[in-house]
Amino acid sequence: MIDENTDVPSLENVSELEYWVLKADVLKTALELDLFTVIHQGNNTLNAIVKTLELDSRGVSILLDALCPLGFLKKSSSSYGLTTVSETYFVRGKETFYGDWTLRTQIAWQTRSKSANAVRTGQAVGGDYSNPDKEDEWVMDYSPALLRWRIAADTALKRWHSLGINDLGCTAPKILDVACGSGVKTMAIGLENKNARITLMDSPKMLELASRLAEKMDVRKQIVLCPGDLADAKIEKEGFDIIHFGLILYYYREQRLIDILRKAYRGLKPGGMLVINEYFADENRCENETALLVAYQLLLFAPDSEVRSFNDYSNILKGVGFSSISLHGDTLLTARKGA
Ligand SMILES: C[S@@+](CC[C@H](N)C(=O)[O-])C[C@H]1O[C@@H](n2cnc3c(N)ncnc32)[C@H](O)[C@@H]1O
Repeated sequence: MIDENTDVPSLENVSELEYWVLKADVLKTALELDLFTVIHQGNNTLNAIVKTLELDSRGVSILLDALCPLGFLKKSSSSYGLTTVSETYFVRGKETFYGDWTLRTQIAWQTRSKSANAVRTGQAVGGDYSNPDKEDEWVMDYSPALLRWRIAADTALKRWHSLGINDLGCTAPKILDVACGSGVKTMAIGLENKNARITLMDSPKMLELASRLAEKMDVRKQIVLCPGDLADAKIEKEGFDIIHFGLILYYYREQRLIDILRKAYRGLKPGGMLVINEYFADENRCENETALLVAYQLLLFAPDSEVRSFNDYSNILKGVGFSSISLHGDTLLTARKGA
């Protein structure tokens, strides 16, 4: 029995989540109405916004005000303006526009209305983000990297140093980044080592973005672009010192994963290093919140996904032939091809 005077469980966690849903709803509605784009076009008063969008003034006024304390709008007297965040990421047509990605995959109201079905059936309800036909969405996810690459590159370089990249014994490392996204995680090595050569593999449109970023980072001459579907990827035998898989292997069931890792093993030079950067579940699958929430998110958006623990990976990697398998923090795993 719960003692009403002393043991009453708090509802704080629940209320906090409900409050975040409310905030997300405000942003979702603004994005659905393209409010930020309309304000960017010079419609700064309630009247001008209402007239342009042909909407009810009471509803719009309440929404506009609610967006201010969330940091997406600023208000002076009766005029509304964009903040740097909404100006950069929520104006349709800008190269860093992120709004549709947020709507379709993060807030994802329509998909989330079907989440219980995903749990009932074990089937994805929000599409398949391991399918090449999602390349436009992925480009939107990674386009902010065109602005934010310095921070990402600094973080990546610190990680590479912690993995001992400079102790690998090669002054001109050849690196393969499979499903590279913006490519910043491996291109960071090129910033520091002008002899490094980095092969980027992803969809054609994503590689266009990676190539633009490589120009900005001044590493374009060190980059080789290899467009195509990961499923058909041909990896040169013993062609690479490092093969990097970032946030991609958890899209695949075990047999497909083994096939991919076999190709990677073959593609590594003797002594070469495999790097897997993703979220690893704790062995009991009850503590690592990020990994377990990512597993849930992937249940909705990737039909064959599986978030694995270190031991899960270790067994698979040993079976493929890898040795010296180690975990570094929560999100990095390395393995070596024996010399
Ligand atoms: C979650 S992102 C990871 C990007 C990057 N590796 C990172 O760690 O940030 C997944 C990437 O995989 C790519 N991708 C998904 N399915 C693919 C496929 N079948 N073939 C090639 N690339 C694919 C997407 O275009 C996207 O860039």
